[in-house]
Amino acid sequence: MLILKKKTAELLAAAVKEKFGEGLLSEEEIFSGLEYPPDSSMGDIALPCFRLSKALRRSPVDIAAGLAEAIRCDEFASVTALKGYLNFKIDPTAFSARVVNDVATLGDKYGSPKSGEGKTVVLDYSSPNVAKPFHIGHLGTTVIGHSLKLLHEFAGYKCVGINYLGDWGTQFGKLIVAYKLWGDKEAILRGGVDELVKLYVKINNAIKDEEDASLAANPDGEKHSELADASRREFTKLEHGDEENLALWRWFVDVSLAEYQKTYKLLGIDFDSYKGESFYTDKMPAQVEKLREMGLLEIDDGASIVNLEKWNMPVCLILKRDGSTLYPTRDIAAAVYRYNTYNFDKAIYVTSAAQSLHFAQWFKVVELMGYEWYPGLVHVPYGTVSINGAKLATRTGNVVLLKDLFAEAISRVYDITKEKHPDHDECMAIAEKVGVGAIVFYYLSNNRMRDINFMMEDALSFDGNTGPYVQYTYARTCSVLERAGTKGEMTDAPLGEVEFELAKCISRFPERVAAAIDEYEPSLVTRYILDLAAAYNRFYHECKILSCEDEKIRSSRIALTAAANQVLRTALHLICMQTPDKI
Ligand code: ARG
Repeated sequence: MLILKKKTAELLAAAVKEKFGEGLLSEEEIFSGLEYPPDSSMGDIALPCFRLSKALRRSPVDIAAGLAEAIRCDEFASVTALKGYLNFKIDPTAFSARVVNDVATLGDKYGSPKSGEGKTVVLDYSSPNVAKPFHIGHLGTTVIGHSLKLLHEFAGYKCVGINYLGDWGTQFGKLIVAYKLWGDKEAILRGGVDELVKLYVKINNAIKDEEDASLAANPDGEKHSELADASRREFTKLEHGDEENLALWRWFVDVSLAEYQKTYKLLGIDFDSYKGESFYTDKMPAQVEKLREMGLLEIDDGASIVNLEKWNMPVCLILKRDGSTLYPTRDIAAAVYRYNTYNFDKAIYVTSAAQSLHFAQWFKVVELMGYEWYPGLVHVPYGTVSINGAKLATRTGNVVLLKDLFAEAISRVYDITKEKHPDHDECMAIAEKVGVGAIVFYYLSNNRMRDINFMMEDALSFDGNTGPYVQYTYARTCSVLERAGTKGEMTDAPLGEVEFELAKCISRFPERVAAAIDEYEPSLVTRYILDLAAAYNRFYHECKILSCEDEKIRSSRIALTAAANQVLRTALHLICMQTPDKI
């Protein structure tokens, strides 16, 4: 459809020139004014002429009439002027054949905007904090991030996916103290991150108790905790390379990562780099030095900061009073390292909107430091996730772990499929794909900035706009093709409205992909999948495919099914969904 829209704009630009004179409207201006009318009985593409009135100094009605006269093209069945609109009707059979043939020739490349060829993008996403829970708050960064990676790869970008693990910081001092006091190696080997989180929660509570007790004993004094002091000492030892602490730290990171990997595997995600926060420790001093040399640092109550008042932002903290570095300091050093390593055109960071200010601040600092690549830095924020029903709450308090969310979805789908097909031995494999897909699809159906209240029942339903429904539709196309035993071929048999609607929907895929990349919005692909599934299901119910007596029509309908099958598969993969061919 995009190609046709472009071509329409081209024809119109020529017609404007012929009818009304040179230099009045560019092809781009015309292109951006073209619309797809909601009711296609009017036309398949339309140009509302109201906005052109000023530039062309004529009434919309005159403009539409004049242009209708000047356009000549066999792509269109008709071009008519109606009340200030210019309506283009496409020849359904020729158009559908072209679209279906395009899909057949390009295969899984169909829809690629090719806008990324020769360019590199690094994507920083997921990035959980070791020994803290990997919870539903991370669902957004994980699936939006990975989907953006897949979309960029699809557009031809060279992509580097980075998991910037939170693997450094004072929490490791606490964890080391807790482990030395109460730790049980066997329990951690068995229980993984959950055990680490328990230790972490336990020491935090113990510190709080000590502090409260110290305040109760001396209400005017400063709060104090032995355990907090010990934690600081252990972290300092770790920073200085103490072997015992380093070995513990490495073990904690490995245990955590091994567990995150299980979730990544379910989602089909892997990263090109796991360089976490610890990796950048020795890369910060050079950036701090540069800031100081450039006169960008100010001392504020003993801390070193960059003043961002001119840009209406609070100060960016670079060094604490005790000289230790902060979150922005590390991000700046990491960005410099990544630019030097990957020479990126874009560096995308996907985090919750709660971190928007942090990114705006340090992006500004990078600009002030004179790094010419600062315009390539992009922050992609997303809204909050909450969950209905207490059933999913975990032992770790009120957070819902991602692995529990997926496990719950998988087990529910398993029960349903097992009931329907008791002798099906692939039930578990299918339940994994459908259960995980249901969560991903539900999450990615919404505009990313929207706050989501997760409803498990809704996500898993087979008859709503859900993951299971679209996967089922995909499986339906597979089954038609399997029974047909051929991919069909478009013929000159005239097509009806329903088939034409399906072809038009297929033709819109490339522009939806392009928009999803431009807006960093995977939900545009999700919603496209729903449109395509609806168009295919309508076609499936209203048109005989395999039982159609007319051989030519049957062949065209099979070919339409093959095209829908290809585009559904491509689109589902772009939003991290699997495509089982049977459900
Ligand atoms: N680990 C951080 C968190 O869980 C997210 C890191 C995002 N990436 C970054 N470069 N700051 O909040």
